[in-house]
Amino acid sequence: MARIPIAAGNWKMNGTNAEARALCRGLAGIDAIAGVDVVLSPSFTQLLLVWDFWCGTDVHIAGQNMHTQPSGAFTGEVSPVQLAEVADWVVLGHSERRQFFCEDDQALALKLRAAEAYGLTPILCVGESEAEQENNRTKAVLTRQVSLALGDAPAPAGLVIAYEPVWAIGTGKAASPDEAESACGHIRSVVAETVGSEAAEGVRILYGGSVNPGNIAEFMAQPDVDGALVGGASLQADAFLAITQAIAAST
Ligand code: 13P
Repeated sequence: MARIPIAAGNWKMNGTNAEARALCRGLAGIDAIAGVDVVLSPSFTQLLLVWDFWCGTDVHIAGQNMHTQPSGAFTGEVSPVQLAEVADWVVLGHSERRQFFCEDDQALALKLRAAEAYGLTPILCVGESEAEQENNRTKAVLTRQVSLALGDAPAPAGLVIAYEPVWAIGTGKAASPDEAESACGHIRSVVAETVGSEAAEGVRILYGGSVNPGNIAEFMAQPDVDGALVGGASLQADAFLAITQAIAAST
């Protein structure tokens, strides 16, 4: 089964509305690049304008987090119902949320099901810390994160998983293509064991961590890498356009 590759930009907590608009303008034409699904993930305050900007194109817009409940007394949170008005995808379990906001595998299992219930395509982020990598714990950590998030229900429709080793995020020290392939292949095997081989064949697995226009092609040459989740380089229109073109060219 051919998997359409993905170029996803996680803007994290960066930029004013004016800067987000300028970045969108700089990405003009990205929706016309064939053979790749483009996803932009701005801050909540930028979502509406980014959603409006790309309205009527194939560009997908993702929240960076969401609550599990449709509404209620959860000050400071954004519900899947609210998010679905200005986004069609959602990033879940980014390591920065696990690290700084105490998100755990159980919470993510619920968020994954909430995304499914409200029609949001989830990008589930997983990845080991530097200490876990040094202690050869990478596969064990990925097994735990993926299997607990998925549970025993069928995989959510369109599920995307991003392998983002924490030590590679924002450090300029990307994983090697072999490391990325080993981890992404392992993730696919865990999906197969957890929810079946058909789901595993269809799930798109991204690499993230210091991706740039110079290293993207070698990640895309790996059979189990189906695209990239890009942080810093996604804030520069030229760099993200180049990455998106390289991803499209890899198919
Ligand atoms: P960098 O591309 O800045 O390393 O960030 C990766 C990331 O965290 C994307 O979600």
